Amino acid sequence: MSRKSDGKVGPLPDTEGLDAQGIIRAGVAAAGGAVSMASSFSVEDVVLIDLLQKVAPRVRVFAIDTGRLNEETYQVAESVRDRYGIEVDWYFPECQAVEQLERDKGMFSFRQSLENRHECCRIRKVEPLNRALAGLKVWIVGLRREQSVTRAHLQPVERDEAHGGILKISPLADWSERQVWAYAEKHALPINGLHRMGYPSIGCAPCTRAIEPGEDLRAGRWWWENPEHKECGLHR
Ligand code: ADX
Ligand code: SF4
Repeated sequence: MSRKSDGKVGPLPDTEGLDAQGIIRAGVAAAGGAVSMASSFSVEDVVLIDLLQKVAPRVRVFAIDTGRLNEETYQVAESVRDRYGIEVDWYFPECQAVEQLERDKGMFSFRQSLENRHECCRIRKVEPLNRALAGLKVWIVGLRREQSVTRAHLQPVERDEAHGGILKISPLADWSERQVWAYAEKHALPINGLHRMGYPSIGCAPCTRAIEPGEDLRAGRWWWENPEHKECGLHR
């Protein structure tokens, strides 16, 4: 699908009663222009890529390589690439900004303060995301309501005011973790090895860990912070 856009974004489509495939179709139809899916290569995102291949195979997939991803994430990205024969549009942070950050503050500045953590996420995630979204009318993401308190009110289609008012589609908004896994197993999807090691949520290696049974799904993300701070700027 072309990346050209005239900057105009259509009205929010009505997704009442639609399943995930219907939400994707409605979102793509409403776009009237370029659409892309953002993938972290979590199980949710591989499910979404599989659904996209069925209903909207021309939608491109992009991913942000922060420079701090786990090896398992690169491996599953390659499995997805092979299985579907798709290219992944990888985005990397601006090298000068990363060089400066590492020279000034070292390799683990994000542990020292919330401000430093936001700075690292801004350089490694948010700036590449802004380039990935440039010219798009719609982006598709694997967010689910039950993932965290910050996502409890997520709608399947929202206007993303933080990114110029383009549409943001979350086809799995009301899926449970059990539904995601049932779909992945039924279709024998490639699975990020971190999930089998107890990571429900996939992020950067130094900021993500396995969780204990019964812990919150995002307890392993930035585990030293309060739950209401656990967003990195991709989703505001
Ligand atoms: S995050 O904001 O805390 O990092 P999370 O890991 O829950 O987000 O992922 C939610 C959705 O954001 C994913 O389903 C995916 O659509 C998008 N996303 C997260 N990380 C990336 C990434 N590195 N590259 C592209 N998209 C991503
Ligand atoms: Fe930096 Fe951690 Fe944010 Fe990744 S998740 S960009 S390593 S602070």
